[in-house]
Amino acid sequence: QNDQRHLVLAHLFDKPCFLGLLAVQADSLSDFHANTHIPIVVGGQMRYEVTGDPLYKEIATFFMDVVNSSHTYATGGTSVSEFWFDPKRLAETLTTENEESCTTYNMLKVSRHLFRWTKEIAYADYYERALINGVLSIQRGRDPGVMIYMLPQGPGRSKAVSYHGWGT
Ligand SMILES: *[C@@H]1O[C@H](CO)[C@@H](O)[C@H](O)[C@H]1NC(C)=O
Repeated sequence: QNDQRHLVLAHLFDKPCFLGLLAVQADSLSDFHANTHIPIVVGGQMRYEVTGDPLYKEIATFFMDVVNSSHTYATGGTSVSEFWFDPKRLAETLTTENEESCTTYNMLKVSRHLFRWTKEIAYADYYERALINGVLSIQRGRDPGVMIYMLPQGPGRSKAVSYHGWGT
């Protein structure tokens, strides 16, 4: 406990090409693989909680704002074919391979921490929308335990005929 070597070790897992751009408040998410990078932000949130370093609170706040304002569908979910696309160009991404459920799961963590820190209701609203539209909706109604990996957002698309389809 309070051993600086643990902090040094933790920093070895930083990803400057991602966290650095968020730190200077650039929307650089395009072409990043969404669900390997959201956990890096969650890790940063834990670092803020443990060390109190305000940079990681700022990074998470900015990240949440960018994802929500520029990479999120009406349902509250994000990502296309596991990646982020150009900011505010979501109409071009509508297909069967939207809103990977794992990204919703991790964005719930990001928004939950922000809500705990700030008590701002917008984060709870985000959480509720993502939970109802992106977690409950991936369960197959008549088939408990059967779920879908991606949530199709394209017009006329159906969960039943998506690429990944239903699975366990
Ligand atoms: C997300 O964006 C919507 C629409 O602009 C806004 O109403 C809401 O407050 C935002 N939520 C967060 C957590 O930034």
